Amino acid sequence: MDRYAVLGFPISHSMSPAIHQRFAEQTGEKISYEAIEVHPDVFANLADYFFKTGGKGLNCTVPLKELAFQKADALTERATISGAVNTLKLMQDGSILGDNTDGVGLITDLCGNLGLTLKGKRVLVLGAGGAARGILEPLLRGEPSNLWLANRTVPKARAMETLFSSLGDIHASSYEALMGEEFDLIINATSTSLTGDLPPLASGLLSSKGVCYDLAYSKEPTAFVLWGEKQGAVLSTDGLGMLVEQAAHAFNLWRGVMPETSAIRGGLRA
Ligand code: ATR
Repeated sequence: MDRYAVLGFPISHSMSPAIHQRFAEQTGEKISYEAIEVHPDVFANLADYFFKTGGKGLNCTVPLKELAFQKADALTERATISGAVNTLKLMQDGSILGDNTDGVGLITDLCGNLGLTLKGKRVLVLGAGGAARGILEPLLRGEPSNLWLANRTVPKARAMETLFSSLGDIHASSYEALMGEEFDLIINATSTSLTGDLPPLASGLLSSKGVCYDLAYSKEPTAFVLWGEKQGAVLSTDGLGMLVEQAAHAFNLWRGVMPETSAIRGGLRA
């Protein structure tokens, strides 16, 4: 049985083992998949040990994605652009390939499962950390009319603007400078949902048919999901769908089989 795992710190609430177990049952692939809590200081050693003792692939989550990026011997194009890796795969020659399936996971959920289109839309991304960086390229490729990137520390948003400006109309901003603007889609890529906080958002930023999407997920609605509902969003959702879709793309990279996700999404939500 081939071994896989998700590494993170903390990791106890991860739904990835349940998701991959269901993928394995559905596709008939014989794999084991566990969650391992790993402090960033020992990540590199543990990843080496995992692969040397027969492990075939790892998912890496907060706060290990940048370290996983450094650990990989080779990177896919989308991992290179995002500067972070959420999936490591042991290749036949013993080298480690790093990929990032977060962006494609988000787009699959937004545009496939939820039926949204990005073309011509006004998009606001909150946050300019690793999570934001991982989704900017696929969002800009969807050709929104513009994409604003708001961050508490504005120079970090400006650095991202510089990095991604060749891909579309991206505009770095403070939270205060959003005043008077209106967006069709607001995506929370800050880490605030992990602590029950909310970015400093004014009212009136969401258009009348606007959608709010939190990259984080939790059993109870996140503070951002509740904010979206209060703003009258036609849809205000957490990132459970993205979690399942990024996992499906990781599973496909490892096993060469793309799982069917809709039943699994429904089951986890229930
Ligand atoms: P991740 O990899 O999850 O993106 P990160 O790189 O540490 O984690 O980035 C966290 C993001 O959440 C940053 O954009 C951070 O804003 P700053 O760059 O100004 O620190 C944002 N963030 C965290 N707590 C926040 C809060 N209370 N209000 C607004 N933004 C917050």
